[in-house]
Amino acid sequence: MSNEQEHPRKAFGWAARDSSGVLSPFSFSRRETGEKDVTFKVLYCGICHSDLHMVKNEWGFSTYPLVPGHEIVGEVTEVGSNVQKFKVGDKVGVGCIVGACRSCDSCTDHLENYCPKQILTYSAKYYDGTTTYGGYSDIMVADEHFVLRIPDNLPLDCAAPLLCAGITTYSPLRYFGLDKPGMHVGVVGVGGLGHVAVKFAKAMGVKVTVISTSPNKEEEAVKHLGADSFLVSRDQEKMQAAIGTMDGIIDTVSAQHPLLPLIGLLKSHGKLVMVGAPEKPLELPVFPLLMGRKMVAGSGIGGMKETQEMIDFAAKHNITADIEVIPIDYLNTAMERLAKADVRYRFVIDIGNTLKATS
Ligand SMILES: NC(=O)c1ccc[n+]([C@@H]2O[C@H](COP(=O)([O-])OP(=O)(O)OC[C@H]3O[C@@H](n4cnc5c(N)ncnc54)[C@H](OP(=O)(O)O)[C@@H]3O)[C@@H](O)[C@H]2O)c1
Ligand SMILES: [Zn+2]
Ligand SMILES: [Zn+2]
Repeated sequence: MSNEQEHPRKAFGWAARDSSGVLSPFSFSRRETGEKDVTFKVLYCGICHSDLHMVKNEWGFSTYPLVPGHEIVGEVTEVGSNVQKFKVGDKVGVGCIVGACRSCDSCTDHLENYCPKQILTYSAKYYDGTTTYGGYSDIMVADEHFVLRIPDNLPLDCAAPLLCAGITTYSPLRYFGLDKPGMHVGVVGVGGLGHVAVKFAKAMGVKVTVISTSPNKEEEAVKHLGADSFLVSRDQEKMQAAIGTMDGIIDTVSAQHPLLPLIGLLKSHGKLVMVGAPEKPLELPVFPLLMGRKMVAGSGIGGMKETQEMIDFAAKHNITADIEVIPIDYLNTAMERLAKADVRYRFVIDIGNTLKATS
């Protein structure tokens, strides 16, 4: 069945048709509002580097046509008869997952993000066997369990990136105990994830050092994002001086890079937490881990309960993303710039005002 006829409700977005990296207008369809579903008009959607990995099939599991977008915010237009948490007019968001089994150990533990049957927001199969499509589109329909409430004091455009970049950095800071005032945490890569990692860590009372390949990001990272210090990873002398000073590091880098210098920055028992998802495996030097009982770990987004907690924490501490709002027609240029780390610090598509079914 065609994408347009699969479901009763007309939908429109931008899709990648192959791994070339180019997106173009795409007509498809969405399901009717089920009894536990929330339907909303998409107003803004952030562009995560994962969207770029997926558009180009860099992780090897993309299916086309692929409508990316998992930092989706908007306003509720319809709720199902059994929906309890939301009503028409509410400001809401959807992040990286739209389904999970709801009964495994992870789900029971509020960790739907680690459910083996989790359903990703796009390029996955929903319960009914149809393909999921993301937020570079005019409407969303999702089970209320996977819908987040956006508090009134958070501007929707700047809040959108919290749905992925926010929770992906907040969760490991909490889980790995890197949230204690006075601790020293490194953040590697000042992109979409990295810049909100700095803000969350600072709000938790942690001392933050940014480790970056871009010397021109220093002034803003220190003055504006609130980082306590800034290391250019190529600067051997300064890297050397920082050896053994950090309790933990959140590594957000999207491409291959050496881990040895990062492990060196850790104190004994320090934790290097990988959240960036390079397409190729990284080399792990083991000896420096043994010398200091250091740990290398990974972390993937967060469960629904923690995601709401993160949004509420952000609202309380006035944490939002620094964004460059773009019209949908700029999408392909934005993707090219994101590939070159040329964005301060997240592109957010103005879906509400610029995505028209005729474009
Ligand atoms: N674990 C999860 O659940 C999860 C969730 C979302 C995203 N991700 C992944 O996290 C990664 C980052 O996402 P993002 O949206 O923050 O991307 P982004 O905005 O492109 O930021 C990545 C940053 O990494 C640094 N970088 C890029 N290429 C580099 C290289 N070759 N060597 C060293 N540093 C480099 C750059 O910072 P500097 O200029 O400061 O060096 C860049 O700004 C992606 O791989 C994405 O798929 C994972
Ligand atoms: Zn993401
Ligand atoms: Zn489960």
